[in-house]
Amino acid sequence: MATKSLSILFVASEVEGLIKSGGLADVAKALPEALLNLDQDVRISIPAYRNVTNVDKAPVLLETQLDTWPHTEYKVLELSVSGVPVYAIDCPQYFERDEMYAENNQAYADNGERFAFFSAACLDMLAKLSFKPDVVHANDWHTGLVPYLLKTRYRNDAFFSATKSILTIHNAVFKGVFSYEELHCLREFHSRFVPEAAISSTHVTMLKAGVMSADKINAVSPSYAEELKTELGGHGMHKEFKAREKDLIGILNGCDYSSWNPKTDEFLPKTYSSDSESMAIGKQAAKRVLQEELGLPARKVAMYGMVCRLTNQKGIHYLLPILDKFLAHDVQLVIVGTGDPILASQLKELSAIHADKFVFVEAYSNRLAHLVEAGSDFFLMPSEFEPCGLNQIYSMAYGSLPIVRGVGGLKDSVRDYYSDRELATGFVFYEPKPLDLLLTLLNSLLLYTQSPDEMARVQAHAMKQDFCWKNAAREYLDLYFSA
Ligand code: GLC
Repeated sequence: MATKSLSILFVASEVEGLIKSGGLADVAKALPEALLNLDQDVRISIPAYRNVTNVDKAPVLLETQLDTWPHTEYKVLELSVSGVPVYAIDCPQYFERDEMYAENNQAYADNGERFAFFSAACLDMLAKLSFKPDVVHANDWHTGLVPYLLKTRYRNDAFFSATKSILTIHNAVFKGVFSYEELHCLREFHSRFVPEAAISSTHVTMLKAGVMSADKINAVSPSYAEELKTELGGHGMHKEFKAREKDLIGILNGCDYSSWNPKTDEFLPKTYSSDSESMAIGKQAAKRVLQEELGLPARKVAMYGMVCRLTNQKGIHYLLPILDKFLAHDVQLVIVGTGDPILASQLKELSAIHADKFVFVEAYSNRLAHLVEAGSDFFLMPSEFEPCGLNQIYSMAYGSLPIVRGVGGLKDSVRDYYSDRELATGFVFYEPKPLDLLLTLLNSLLLYTQSPDEMARVQAHAMKQDFCWKNAAREYLDLYFSA
């Protein structure tokens, strides 16, 4: 195992504690924190969007300009999250907006330019700040140009002669596809011939640029790393992933137990541990509050929860066709999420029909997410694909048994009750079919109604699983050294 201390710049488009829209932010907070705890010199860089916590009070570290850019001036603001220094790139014409990526489901028209600028500025600031990282760690398409620029613009720059790049794939369905015109701000794209990034004679993707340029690549679970190399699971980029297979591994995300721990969770009416009595009391109290808040009958009944972005990735289209049949049983269901307006209206309609059993909350609420994890008996993640998934890991920690489709990180983190009762931590189905989901839901209900003691045993076992970030961070360190 690696012990020497490295200096690392972690570049991401969002970081929990500062600004968040999804799981990427959780990782971008927890992984640097875990690396810091392993005595590494790690610093984060994000765009200084208007809504970043405390951005208006942040001291200015650097006022400078990007020489090769039409809009050249930018500042580097100093923030920190869990003790990790954060460099926020402040460039009002790109980041002084209400949202990070899109408004009213409409991506900002200049997203290509915005994230190309961010990627370029992250590298430009380093010599000016006298921070010479051994590793620059980029994440997803937004920062895919960071490894690319290191390999091109900075190829012969002595400052970066020993700097290696890593790209983590959190979700390859988002590729950052832009035309050469849209990226005219990068002189490297003026030739209109960038084979590392091109997907046609007119368009490039920033993710591909990163995949083809990074020294090492990882996906956020071993199974997703395998799936990316297949035509079915590669989101149209399986050839590129296959070409880089020697440098591509999977590292399962950890769980930030400082935020997701029923023993200390301030959102819960009563905290609890995996001890059977404590768990029963704590979960019962959370279920009551949940039922009251949602206007569901306050009674002892199997509660199913789901918290997610409303997209087909999350498998809502497997759930919708069987919801009537499932809700014919004695169950309660709560779904919390925002996203696709069509899925939202379908869920609204079904919750109106089954108002005494099913509530759909069209919102993004961290507090409610915690309450659902604690107050539900089962947690639904029937995803079509899932790079890692974090909610199934949170739900295990809260003794809510995950019901997942066996793909990506779901497959790597949940053990199915019907395959291995002793070690089970949830339920897994494989076929991407509504009926397979229904069958699994009914099997879980059977466990709840017929064998409460066995159910409690499996819940306690799930709660004892440990997906700590420390182990994942060690794997990342090994990856850095292998680069
Ligand atoms: C993306 C993926 C999710 C993963 C998260 C963090 O949101 O969809 O599966 O857990 O990134 O890596």
